[in-house]
Amino acid sequence: MTKHLRAKKQYQNTSRQFVGKKYSMSSLPNIEHSIAIPYQLRVLFTERAFEPANPLVRQLLCTKESGARRKAIIYIDEGVATANSQLVPQIEAYFQHHRADLNLRGIHLLPAGEPIKNETDYLKQIYAQIEDQKICRHSYLIAIGGGALLDTVGFAAATAHRGIRHIRFPTTTLGQGDAGVGVKNGFNFRGKKNFVGTFSPPFAVVNDFAFLETLPEKHLRNGYIEAIKVALIRDASFFEWIESNADALNRFDPDALRQLVHTSAQHHVTHIATSGDPFEMGSVRPLDFGHWAAHKLEQLSDFRISHGEAVAIGIAIDTLYSQNIGYLDAPSADRILALIKKLHLPTYAPELELQTSENQNATLAGLEEFREHLGGLLTITLLKQIGQRFEVHEMDTEKILQSIAQLPR
Ligand SMILES: NC(=O)c1ccc[n+]([C@@H]2O[C@H](COP(=O)([O-])OP(=O)(O)OC[C@H]3O[C@@H](n4cnc5c(N)ncnc54)[C@H](O)[C@@H]3O)[C@@H](O)[C@H]2O)c1
Ligand SMILES: [Zn+2]
Repeated sequence: MTKHLRAKKQYQNTSRQFVGKKYSMSSLPNIEHSIAIPYQLRVLFTERAFEPANPLVRQLLCTKESGARRKAIIYIDEGVATANSQLVPQIEAYFQHHRADLNLRGIHLLPAGEPIKNETDYLKQIYAQIEDQKICRHSYLIAIGGGALLDTVGFAAATAHRGIRHIRFPTTTLGQGDAGVGVKNGFNFRGKKNFVGTFSPPFAVVNDFAFLETLPEKHLRNGYIEAIKVALIRDASFFEWIESNADALNRFDPDALRQLVHTSAQHHVTHIATSGDPFEMGSVRPLDFGHWAAHKLEQLSDFRISHGEAVAIGIAIDTLYSQNIGYLDAPSADRILALIKKLHLPTYAPELELQTSENQNATLAGLEEFREHLGGLLTITLLKQIGQRFEVHEMDTEKILQSIAQLPR
């Protein structure tokens, strides 16, 4: 053994001795402190937030310590702006009306949907505008749009100056009930969903129901599946409520829509705030029920399949799998699949047949990617009953393929 190797071995032995002990390698003690950071997760409900008589936005931006006029840059999803031609002039008029308190530093339209999360140019554009407008950590970055736009602007807000106050206005049912009310943002890299991102609670979320009036049918339905998801893992009575209101939801009855969005948001926020793991340090992710296959299907379809549609298929697969491994009873599995179908959400996509060059079903790769993304032990949420979940750390490939083959088409 060379002198160098001997020294290295001796160092490794010494280090092992200290593993798990509160000793420093030197004679000086280590320094350790817990840091508790109180976060307020606020989801405010309103309608027509930018009508001059609605005080919510002004009150929200003008916090106690504010002296100067509050600066804000606003980013709007192009799809939302196109569907609401009055939105931009209305916001300009709102800030003009409240100009004593508010200082609007620009309104910018950004492309809608998943493409914005695939292309770094938009992120660079946002950083440049933050810099140009001298937006500081006490200014606001406001995002109005679908989950994809919120994820991108949220990431820019969390990283520019290491964190600018960020207010989200989700404009889809999926955003108002799930994507917009959580603490994550994300950006895709090399086609992998949310490969880049942070855990960063927004300053506030404003769920303005009036935005849903222009949302296309397909996207109205997408929020239904995240509500079904949260009901399946947490609340059987919410599942029953969705079942008994399925006709109203199919008519997009405003009261039913609002109730669904509100209960879904409440469950998502409550889970994040009370599960003991808001920043997902552990391996258990019940809110990602059905998502291991969903994220892979979105990617395999080159994002032709929307997030909500992919989650519907992913939930159908994991429901059948829960049945096939002997946990969920057949009548419950049938009820879940019937509700997804009744709400005109998909339970199958041709991408499920794609094979890899090694002749493996391509969707299965989603499991390993899911594990890699979450870190630690593979942990998949499954169902014991409607409203009652459990976790497994491995899945049987044959049984997954059997579940895929049983999907209603
Ligand atoms: N950060 C999170 O915790 C989290 C959670 C779940 C999902 N997500 C992400 O959210 C994204 C999906 O979000 P989404 O379902 O809201 O879809 P989306 O952002 O893709 O938007 C869907 C489409 O609807 C249009 N649109 C949005 N609001 C509209 C309105 N009011 N009127 C007319 N058109 C409107 C958009 O322009 C777009 O074309 C995915 O990228 C997903 O990964 C994030
Ligand atoms: Zn989701």
